[in-house]
Amino acid sequence: MELVRVTEAAALAGGSWLGKGDKNAADQAAVDMMRKEAPMLYCGEQIGTGQEPMVDIAVDPLDGTTLVSQGRNGAISVIAMAERGALFDPGPCMYMEKLAVGPEVNPHMVSLLYPVERNLKAVAVALNKPVRDVTVCILDRPRHADLIAQCRQAGARIRLLSDGDVAGAIEVAKQGSPVDVMLGIGGTPEGVIAAAALKCMGGSLQARLWPRNEEERRRAEAAGLDISAILYQDDLCKGEQVFFAATGVSDGDLLRGVRYFSGGASTNSIVMRASSGTVRMIETHHKWAKPSITNIDSLN
Ligand code: FBP
Repeated sequence: MELVRVTEAAALAGGSWLGKGDKNAADQAAVDMMRKEAPMLYCGEQIGTGQEPMVDIAVDPLDGTTLVSQGRNGAISVIAMAERGALFDPGPCMYMEKLAVGPEVNPHMVSLLYPVERNLKAVAVALNKPVRDVTVCILDRPRHADLIAQCRQAGARIRLLSDGDVAGAIEVAKQGSPVDVMLGIGGTPEGVIAAAALKCMGGSLQARLWPRNEEERRRAEAAGLDISAILYQDDLCKGEQVFFAATGVSDGDLLRGVRYFSGGASTNSIVMRASSGTVRMIETHHKWAKPSITNIDSLN
């Protein structure tokens, strides 16, 4: 439950930048606030007092910086925590191929090694509906042209995301969700965080590192990473002591964005724990400790 304070704080700070055309400022505001609440932002950074329990933490203070800067839906602030050594360290790799499915789909029936059509058929069988009614969520990127063509060829429905594939992955595991499977290449930290969320929800994510160029491939191999390996759910996020929290920054299907009102703001969050499978939806009203606005000249 303490984790949600961190995502709420980041969402409140990032949300102030909605539609202001400055994605770096939005990101910085969320990062600064998350750092203040819980300084844990660099890969490999050691934080805390050194006392037990030792944990791994993955954060994305603002997933959807462009969404916020352009005033679009779907940006969230997220944090995941697990036992020490449980979260995958992607080293220098910025991107990974991902395949995320909800709890109804047996993860052994789908694979990044299989053709897209076979995976979509497996999802269709698991969900007891024809492939034409299966909805695939994909980041709208030129690199996905072939993937999109294959999904169309298979006859599936497609929902394109302009950004924010953590929320996209979580959505596939939500009951009554409008999407059934997420495919495509996105950020590695986002993949690890999404794997933690899916672990709490009974879904699964598998991935394969996707170096952008030779230099990244070389650095990944030097770091001991196997570029060709399929990383399964337990490679990305091991164990049962997994905790996840996310807060909506801008409105989205998963979470409502921040609302600012006289003397405060409200946030909408999801908090989950793998060992119990508990999913909490939290609506929080925050009260500012600021003097009230008395005239137009005091506004900035
Ligand atoms: P940012 O908030 O860092 O901009 O990330 C948004 C995002 O859409 C992620 O959700 C996704 O994993 C990644 O960017 C995809 O990267 P790219 O925009 O380079 O295709």
